[in-house]
Amino acid sequence: MQPVESLTEEAAAAELLRLARLLAEADAAYHGADAPVMSDAEYDALKRRNAEIEARFPHLRRPDSPSGQVGAPPAEGFGTVRHRVPMLSLANVFDEAGVREFDDQLRRFLRLGPEAPLAYVAEPKIDGLSLSLRYEGGVLVQAATRGDGTTGEDVTANARTVAEIPATLSGTPPDILEVRGEIYMSHADFAALNARAAAEGSKVFANPRNAAAGSLRQLDPQVTASRPLRFFAYSWGDVSEPLADTQWDALRRLAGFGFPVSPLARLCERVDQLLAVYAELEAGRADLGYDIDGVVYKVNDLGLQQRLGFRHTTPRWAVAHKFPAETAWTRLLAIDINVGRTGTLAPLARLEPITVGGVVVSNATLHNEDYIAGRSAATGEPIRGGRDLRVGDWVKVRRAGDVIPQIVDVDLSRRPPEAVPFVFPTVCPRCGSDAVREPGDAVRRCTGGLGCPAQAMEKLKHFVSRKAFDIEGFGAKQVEMFFDDPLLPVREPADIFTMEERDARNPERLRDRFRYGEQSAANLFRAIASRRRIPLARLIFALGIRHVGEATAQLLARHYGSWEAFESAMTAATVGEGPEWEALTGIDGVGPVVAASLVNAFHQEAERAVIDRLIPHLTILPPNRPVGTGTLAGRTIVFTGTLERMTRAEAKARAEAAGARVAGSVSARTDLVVAGPGAGSKVREAERLGVRVIDEAEWLDLLGGA
Ligand code: IVH
Repeated sequence: MQPVESLTEEAAAAELLRLARLLAEADAAYHGADAPVMSDAEYDALKRRNAEIEARFPHLRRPDSPSGQVGAPPAEGFGTVRHRVPMLSLANVFDEAGVREFDDQLRRFLRLGPEAPLAYVAEPKIDGLSLSLRYEGGVLVQAATRGDGTTGEDVTANARTVAEIPATLSGTPPDILEVRGEIYMSHADFAALNARAAAEGSKVFANPRNAAAGSLRQLDPQVTASRPLRFFAYSWGDVSEPLADTQWDALRRLAGFGFPVSPLARLCERVDQLLAVYAELEAGRADLGYDIDGVVYKVNDLGLQQRLGFRHTTPRWAVAHKFPAETAWTRLLAIDINVGRTGTLAPLARLEPITVGGVVVSNATLHNEDYIAGRSAATGEPIRGGRDLRVGDWVKVRRAGDVIPQIVDVDLSRRPPEAVPFVFPTVCPRCGSDAVREPGDAVRRCTGGLGCPAQAMEKLKHFVSRKAFDIEGFGAKQVEMFFDDPLLPVREPADIFTMEERDARNPERLRDRFRYGEQSAANLFRAIASRRRIPLARLIFALGIRHVGEATAQLLARHYGSWEAFESAMTAATVGEGPEWEALTGIDGVGPVVAASLVNAFHQEAERAVIDRLIPHLTILPPNRPVGTGTLAGRTIVFTGTLERMTRAEAKARAEAAGARVAGSVSARTDLVVAGPGAGSKVREAERLGVRVIDEAEWLDLLGGA
């Protein structure tokens, strides 16, 4: 790969496109139904390269630039709580260089020299689940899990049963105070709980974290009360008055209100001290009595935290320095190939079961054929020293947090003499169609389309999944059950909506069959009927078109406004040219890859027919107009020239915090140009288009009101 420093502007733009595509693919595979297509290390390396190129050419940053989403949406059964202040995740670093880079980055952002004081608080990263506790007048009124960061589950009744969570606060807390921290379980309590469960013949938990999560998320608070949950406070959300001037003092205040606060937090003046705390905590980790998975470094000065602000899902002022993941050696028994929704041939390792970090592992992802062969799919460079994986090999398995285990090494000295290199199939193991690997793609795909039963079934599972049609009583399990059902087959989305009618005509009715009775058959048909009204964005997402995730579906729904407009634009469009293509790729966030995938889907005969058969069953609801918050909500701003009172990065972050979008170039859609000394062509372009241009002083005034 070409070093970032030597990329020309043109090469950089092409590389950003390639990376956006690869990473979007990897994200979709990781979060969706498919298995991961690349290793974490490779993924991180690509993300880093993307960030480096964007840092060098900020104006080339793509609207679909790869950035992460956190967590999972709330489960059914609990009420939901909208977090007034989002609950965020943390960016990770894995080594000393990462920590130093974090510190350097903050200094650049804040325009601080290498020797200027910049203090941090280092806190253990508790491996539990985060909880937000709302107090009004010092009394606990609500507890919520993180959920997807915006909306969590209401677990108030359960939180009240946790002894370490105060029901009323001591001292003089702010009138409104949302305290955030981690619910966890100690090793000893976890072992006792599992011993009890085993004796009673009920389910044992894989690790303390799962036990804590399972115990808190109980629909019956009595059950939670019987589980020994513990809590550490480390942060806060909505507050009616500031807690303190520094993270350190805020922690002291939280302790004063009666919250457990980690006794292992340290105030550090320099990066070396952060690294010393890390070494100390890592060495003492096994004796702590509860799980920690790293150390969190937070800028101590809350004023600076405010200035640093947030990226999409993570604060800029904090980072998690993770401990290395646990590993173990075991035998590779077989390599299976699964076929995913978009045809991906996903290799899966079957392992002799082994305990890694307290969890029994018997499968691991193998990502793609290059990974098995010992080279990176993205760069062709060797991985694991170029050693390939063969059935019968001894392999080193790594498991980190909740991610699917991976194979990180192979012991050639123990390779059985009869072991042969793995031959990756070039035809689909399910339908026999050719499986091809397109240039630039990490994975091989079955070309059978909807004719491949594996793809058709995975597509249906996607269609009914929670973020799509979300039909109660009709999930992945029912897809498998009905797909080949002789009486009431469901092979494509439209079949779901004709089930009731077809059932009425069948000699044997669903209500008289296997697990169904009168009531559950009626419930199922009612649940299906209730989903005939569907928001446009959900429908677009549910179609399962490659590269079209939830966010893209939202953009498309908002842009086209109705199914009719969307459908006729897709039908009229041709890839690469024409007004419809221009309009589609002109949507902020829709790149050529996504656009081509959409247009192809609407022109592929079988896929199109499935869509056309579905639509008559639905009433499609148009999207709500977005309502922004913040004084600059919905405005598009361009910065140009030098700003003297804040860095470009800070200006951008603050504009975004006030609800604006920051663009790299001036167009008719620009609302405001902020120009400093040295500004040139962009100001001229703004003047030509009649876009308002202001200087830095006016910008600061505007922010003052923001
Ligand atoms: S601060 C806006 N501090 O780690 C900053 N998080 O990977 C929010 N966690 O969601 C997080 N110990 O559940 C923070 N001392 C600590 C933590 C901590 C554990 C968890 C938390 C967070 C996750 C991010």
